[in-house]
Amino acid sequence: DPDLARDVARALRTIRDFPEPGVVFKDFTPLLLDVPLRDRVVADVVARRGSGVDLVIGIEARGFILGSVIAHGLGTGFVPVRKAGKLPSTTHAVSYSLEYGEATIEVHQDAIPAGARVLIVDDVLATGGTAAAAVELVRRTQGEVVALEVILEIGFLQGRSRLTGTTVHALLTD
Ligand code: PRP
Ligand code: MG
Repeated sequence: DPDLARDVARALRTIRDFPEPGVVFKDFTPLLLDVPLRDRVVADVVARRGSGVDLVIGIEARGFILGSVIAHGLGTGFVPVRKAGKLPSTTHAVSYSLEYGEATIEVHQDAIPAGARVLIVDDVLATGGTAAAAVELVRRTQGEVVALEVILEIGFLQGRSRLTGTTVHALLTD
């Protein structure tokens, strides 16, 4: 699908000074309303990952939306990675640093069988802190990370440098 990146770029809405002055926010919600384009995004991931995925994990909150439709397209189960305190059963937890302070994400310990081939999905790769923590969560379960798939990579933040050893695919790089 040679035009996919161009068409997704057009579907992203740019909002300046959100959530705070100086930040340029890329809003992917219009993509969710364009059903043929959404289906092309899913088909692109399915073509790349084929039958090599046992489970998709999506990172709360925006990764839930894309991760769920991609899991459906791949015919796999979906595992939510949630922010601290939201999952009811026994979890693994990993903390990571934000620009100010710290965040923690969790996964149910029994959600990913040892050896499962796991695809991690999120909307944006920025500093890479969130994605690196998700990779660490999968490692704690002894799952195997196949790749991280995102719509948009913010290149200058160099998130990939925190993900050495992990295959990263971004539909677009900004
Ligand atoms: C955003 C985005 C990614 C993450 C990327 O999520 O959806 O998950 O930041 O940033 P990083 O690479 O610097 O870690 P956010 O935590 O803002 O919350 P949301 O998905 O719940 O909106
Ligand atoms: Mg997020």
